[in-house]
Amino acid sequence: MQDFAWNFQTKLVYGPGKLAEVGQVAKGLGKKAMLATYEANATFAPVIDKVISSLAAAGVEVVTFTEIEPNPRAHTIDKAIEIFNAENCDLVIALGGGSVIDGSKYIAATSYSGGSCWDYVVLGDRTPREYTGAFPIISIPTVAASGSECNAGGVLTNWETKEKSFSRSEYRIPKVAILDPELHTSLPDFITNESCIDIFSHLIEHYLSSDADSGFADRLTEGMILNLMDNFEKVQKDPTNLDVRGQLALCSIFGWSGIQALGRLGSIPMHSIEMPLSAHFDVRHARGMAMVVPPYLEFFADVRPDRWAQLARRCFGVVEQDDQVAARMLSVKVKEWFERTGMLITLSDDNIPEDKYEKMADDVIRMFAMPGTNTIAGVKPITKEEIIEVYKLAK
Ligand SMILES: [Fe+2]
Repeated sequence: MQDFAWNFQTKLVYGPGKLAEVGQVAKGLGKKAMLATYEANATFAPVIDKVISSLAAAGVEVVTFTEIEPNPRAHTIDKAIEIFNAENCDLVIALGGGSVIDGSKYIAATSYSGGSCWDYVVLGDRTPREYTGAFPIISIPTVAASGSECNAGGVLTNWETKEKSFSRSEYRIPKVAILDPELHTSLPDFITNESCIDIFSHLIEHYLSSDADSGFADRLTEGMILNLMDNFEKVQKDPTNLDVRGQLALCSIFGWSGIQALGRLGSIPMHSIEMPLSAHFDVRHARGMAMVVPPYLEFFADVRPDRWAQLARRCFGVVEQDDQVAARMLSVKVKEWFERTGMLITLSDDNIPEDKYEKMADDVIRMFAMPGTNTIAGVKPITKEEIIEVYKLAK
């Protein structure tokens, strides 16, 4: 088991209708908020209005920025930062999914620390700029998926250079997350489905890539995977069930909070391999994970059969005693599950051409290689050629 330092810094405010309390929550954190969100449509506009009314009732001024897109673009976030500074805001309220919350983190910390949001992301050999602090953030997730609502991570896309990358900073951990499951009941089914796969991908990244052992983290992760699978099935039958939405919200948060990896922190190879799908083809992150996870599990089963087999047995009903055989059954079982839930998706489904695989693999290595190597961290050091093989299996 590895040494670690971990705490959970976000206050969770959970319950149907809790959105209406945002004004009271915000009052304790700032005087003038930027409400960062997606472009309003007919369904979403009343939600934005509810936030604005609650803030007004609590005496908190608000500037609304509704331009954050899926796979948030660096130039959009820089525009928000300019407005945030010009308006002298002192608080960010992130109302949306992972893209909005990630973008809001860059708004809050870059406004405080200076420069462009892109200065702070991991990018090959360059040393990313470091924040000196951040304005407080309230996250209001409108979907259970990214876990961003309570953690330090954040992903950005640079549309000009076709790069997508990330950074982590404790300064950007939201102070409060308002978890109102009513906000999740009107999501389109495809978003709910893809989101459950994103949660699954978070739960298995560290589980499968660490050399350290932590039975606590294993059992916690396995419990969350089983709970996710139960509630994924339930939400497909009844998308309006608030308790089910609440359970998925907890899987999202604690599946990517670090608690799922206590004592055996690993790496995030599947996420690295997904990044170019979003950067080049604007694939939604969670959808991209659905494309990458099964082939990754298939291709690397022989590297750590003990880990693969344990997951297969404890979460996917595999009873085979031989580790090598059980390990190879994991991708089969996961594919069956994806198929049942309508989430078996290939690169071809989104017209991602095979002649791009090499460029995408090049990007992964260029941006995320371990220092002094041509490999990224994963279940083993992963080469460009192996990433191409994963894409081929995802074809
Ligand atoms: Fe993810």
